[in-house]
Amino acid sequence: MRKRIVAGNWKMNKTLKEGIELAKEIELQVEKQEDKSIGVIIGTPFIHLSEVSKIINHNLISIAAQNCSSEPKGAFTGEVSAEMIKSTGAKYVIIGHSERRSYFDEDNKTMNKKVKLALEQGLKPIFCIGELLDERKQNKQFDVVNKQLNEGLFDLTDEEFSKIILAYEPVWAIGTGETATPQQAQEMHEYIRKLVSENYNAEIADNTTILYGGSCKPSNAQELFANIDVDGGLIGGASLKADDFFEIINSF
Ligand code: 13P
Repeated sequence: MRKRIVAGNWKMNKTLKEGIELAKEIELQVEKQEDKSIGVIIGTPFIHLSEVSKIINHNLISIAAQNCSSEPKGAFTGEVSAEMIKSTGAKYVIIGHSERRSYFDEDNKTMNKKVKLALEQGLKPIFCIGELLDERKQNKQFDVVNKQLNEGLFDLTDEEFSKIILAYEPVWAIGTGETATPQQAQEMHEYIRKLVSENYNAEIADNTTILYGGSCKPSNAQELFANIDVDGGLIGGASLKADDFFEIINSF
């Protein structure tokens, strides 16, 4: 059985003090959660990772970085390596977010290097894919996602790929308030699972967690998560409020 997960992506929000407070609030809520089988992850900015790691119960909440360097170590001013992330106690790293792709010109080849470095360190990548609005209008969304997966991930071995979490985030739905309909999400998640099955095998595809991201909030999480191939969410804005985030966790 694949794992159901709700992951927060705080993006570039919260000072260190605010971040610690938010993590504590989320933990208080998650302690009350009845269904402990749902994985809860918070993706904090780099500078929060080690402090948040010290104060949370890792049996309840795991921590993710939002990015890592495509280089292992050395003279790369301002970069943070997968090894450094691992040393903070983080278990996951978000790779290939559309904001990294568009604002920082990261391509699938760069993402692929990051994924391999993360895996070498025992970090689990949360790999983001998804089409732009124009691409959807031209009905190219399936080709786009196929290319992102082919160039970013599909050269991994079976064992490596089994550690990947996928996040389908249609770019037109991120931070816009416009969410993919449950049908659009299901259709794409089913397609992604089919690609995984073709490139690996049915068992690996069946075990792969595929999250939906893009204006997912308490009011729509339930109808999105009700789809057979939607295994949870990658939450931006709504992960910055403990109550909203918890409501989403409880939406299965
Ligand atoms: P929003 O939930 O704010 O639309 O952001 C989604 C996202 O980008 C998560 O990675």
